[in-house]
Amino acid sequence: MTYNQIKGSAEYILAQTRVRPKIAIILGSGLNPISAEIENATRIPYKNIPRWNSTTNPDHEGVLIIGTLDKIPVAVMNGRLHQYEGNSMKECAYPVAVFKAMGIEKIIVTNAAGGINTDYRNGDFVLISDHIKFFNEGPLTGEDASIFGGNRFFDMSDTYSEYLRNRVAGAFETETGKKIQQGVYAFMPGPQFETPAEIRMLRTLGADVVGMSTVPEVIMAAACNIKVLGISVVSNMAAGVENKKLSGSDVNETCASIKEDFKALLHTAVRILEEEK
Ligand code: HPA
Repeated sequence: MTYNQIKGSAEYILAQTRVRPKIAIILGSGLNPISAEIENATRIPYKNIPRWNSTTNPDHEGVLIIGTLDKIPVAVMNGRLHQYEGNSMKECAYPVAVFKAMGIEKIIVTNAAGGINTDYRNGDFVLISDHIKFFNEGPLTGEDASIFGGNRFFDMSDTYSEYLRNRVAGAFETETGKKIQQGVYAFMPGPQFETPAEIRMLRTLGADVVGMSTVPEVIMAAACNIKVLGISVVSNMAAGVENKKLSGSDVNETCASIKEDFKALLHTAVRILEEEK
């Protein structure tokens, strides 16, 4: 990943539209209904963007939508890149470096996740407070974050800004009367769901939800000094928590069942991020 590649992707995207997005949103599996509410939309297939990989997961459309949500200029990734599709962590995180080069300073990263915390229920929303990633390759392996304006050794202690989380949770609870959870997201590479023993291990380590995405993009956002809000939807209880086999179609079914509340949460989150200087 070179600065010229990142700049080239950013220039290609900005040449397709007059909108100058301020907030990026990455939509996770089954969480795309908000994309229909983007106004003044320019839709750019990933395959047209130089150096930007395409999605292979049929639930992820693979289109970058530039437009406005509630009059706020946004860049929405309708479908993300996963490591389990054969992308390196770097390739998964590349769009975030491009967002920085486009002048974006804030990102909302969403995903469907398995619930590890037994106080959680199917369909719960969890604002991510922190994450756990194991010790394999990372998105910045071999990179020096100075190409994104950062340092090689950068801090991640408040990456999932506590202030922003509390503001979004408070506003959403006031507006809808619905409680929102806050918890730790564990990254597992997939594509298979975890084993029950892995889930017990993750619980012991302090994880509340588990998923196969998000962390590469968030590490890149931290490297680029982009403010992060992470949202998980508990699409199933994780392996072994209930006496039940896991399936991708159950994940999609849960996400479909919460879509109106999830859209409301995104409207609230975009508004609060926009207010935040
Ligand atoms: N594990 C990992 N990723 C997931 C899960 C899960 O249980 N549910 C949705 N994404």
